[in-house]
Amino acid sequence: MVGLNRLSLIATLGAVSAQFQKPLLSQLDDVLLETDKTGDKPLVDTESLQAHISTESLFEHANALYELAKSSEQEFGHPTRVIGSEGHRRTLEYVAAKIDSLGDYYKSSTQAFPAVMGQVFQSRLVLGHSVPESASPMSLTPPTTGKEPVYGNLVLVDNEGCGASDYPDKLKGEIAFIKRGTCPFGTKSDFAGRAGAIAAVVFNSNPDGLSGTLGTPTPYHVPTFGLSGKDAEPIVEKLKAGEVVDSIAFIDSVVNTINTTNIIAQTVEGDQENCVMLGAHSDSVGEGPGINDDGSGSLTLLEVATHLTKFSVKNCVRFAWWAGEEEGLLGSDYYVASLPEEENKKIRLFMDYDMMGSPNFAYQVYNATNVANPTGSEQLRNLYVDWYESKGLNYTFIPFDGRSDYDAFIRNGIPGGGIATGAEGIKTEEEEAMFGGKAGDWYDPCYHQLCDDVGNVNATAWLVNTQLVAHSVATFAASFEGFPERETTKAAGVYEKDTLYHGRYLVR
Ligand SMILES: *[C@@H]1O[C@H](CO)[C@@H](O)[C@H](O)[C@H]1NC(C)=O
Ligand SMILES: *[C@@H]1O[C@H](CO)[C@@H](O)[C@H](O)[C@H]1NC(C)=O
Ligand SMILES: *[C@@H]1O[C@H](CO)[C@@H](O)[C@H](O)[C@H]1NC(C)=O
Ligand SMILES: *[C@@H]1O[C@H](CO)[C@@H](O)[C@H](O)[C@H]1NC(C)=O
Ligand SMILES: [Zn+2]
Repeated sequence: MVGLNRLSLIATLGAVSAQFQKPLLSQLDDVLLETDKTGDKPLVDTESLQAHISTESLFEHANALYELAKSSEQEFGHPTRVIGSEGHRRTLEYVAAKIDSLGDYYKSSTQAFPAVMGQVFQSRLVLGHSVPESASPMSLTPPTTGKEPVYGNLVLVDNEGCGASDYPDKLKGEIAFIKRGTCPFGTKSDFAGRAGAIAAVVFNSNPDGLSGTLGTPTPYHVPTFGLSGKDAEPIVEKLKAGEVVDSIAFIDSVVNTINTTNIIAQTVEGDQENCVMLGAHSDSVGEGPGINDDGSGSLTLLEVATHLTKFSVKNCVRFAWWAGEEEGLLGSDYYVASLPEEENKKIRLFMDYDMMGSPNFAYQVYNATNVANPTGSEQLRNLYVDWYESKGLNYTFIPFDGRSDYDAFIRNGIPGGGIATGAEGIKTEEEEAMFGGKAGDWYDPCYHQLCDDVGNVNATAWLVNTQLVAHSVATFAASFEGFPERETTKAAGVYEKDTLYHGRYLVR
């Protein structure tokens, strides 16, 4: 009898365990944890996602990225991940391979686009008898004719040179002298070219130097310099007094177009009509490997994308690795411009993650308010603020002025925001008390330089900010409750912003 009982007990247990395919621990989770589920993964929640983020994993990626940057050494003489370089090509492969390895959790795509790049090899400007020290050729400037010096008299343009009538007839064959203000430098250079000028000088409206970009080339752009207000002042006086200022301009430069690509990965799960989108830029400047700028943001996205696969989502999550950010937000501009209206509407918000671990960091939150930006931007801003406050961390607001890839989104009706840790700005005494580090130094002393390597990323800041990125993804992947509906789409002119910057360059 005893024997028989044991046998039937074993038979019963066997029957029970056969009903369950899943490991016991996961069965316990099903019973004990409140999980709102799709498939067999728990719905993403912020604490669980954040718990997966590790400094070790981030720095493993960073070391790998630096090795990829070194593959450009042959062509550039130093590590870089600038678009068109081997280092950038391999960076794209690295991101793509990692996303592919995550199986069918994401559907991913590349978006190729033409990118305009410029290089200035040599330049010289002589105004009358002086060689102004502050003269600086604008980015994307064409060369002077024949890449040789050209000669002409300086002609002062009326007002700020933002209308064709500001350019006098006598400018033909001469050099335009134009005050900074109102319209972009590219517009002034174009008007000058249309009026027959052989070169142009845009002088600052304050004593400082002026370096900027002409932006997208037009057939009329002429070779263009920026000049400090201080250097310009005596010359403006001479011109106003009717004196002749004969001048020499020389720029040896090339402007060419290369192909590069954005990478997009979107969760297969989740409401495909309501997406939270986030992006970082995959490229660096030509001067260095760009491990903080923006290797840190790119790898933060990769890390969060990797761990998100352990969860299910209610709303779709779309990751983007932009190319050509450093040449003037080219990839993100192209992406947003190519969205049909019904696709634009599916993006509930865009979160920008550029420079997550500056060595002399501040926790910076873009001051994206609803007054000046699409409604929802401020809710996003406040999500970052609440999180830093909940961790007992200090933060500062920084201008939301077009310096990174959020620009195209907010101009096209999509709420946006983001966090950063600082570039070439100078840390204040007050910020030293708030964040540590060193007042008087740049937030990133290696900004856009060769030394932006793995040692240039502060581990504490990077970890904290990657956790916050995970929080932002988890929050909106789980729910848009309380987050404003999309109100406008591409309504022309609604968000026309005269931002000073487009990417790292001054444009006006
Ligand atoms: C870029 O791609 C286009 C279309 O695929 C091709 O026609 C063009 O030659 C490419 N340009 C360069 C510089 O490789
Ligand atoms: C944030 O922006 C709003 C307007 O959009 C402005 O009133 C406020 O002063 C800004 N705050 C900071 C700290 O810059
Ligand atoms: C925040 O800033 C204050 C100074 O304004 C400082 O006393 C405090 O230690 C800082 N908190 C942290 C967590 O660094
Ligand atoms: C990162 O920043 C914190 C706070 O300023 C500092 O204590 C730490 O030493 C820094 N880490 C490195 C590796 O520089
Ligand atoms: Zn950047």
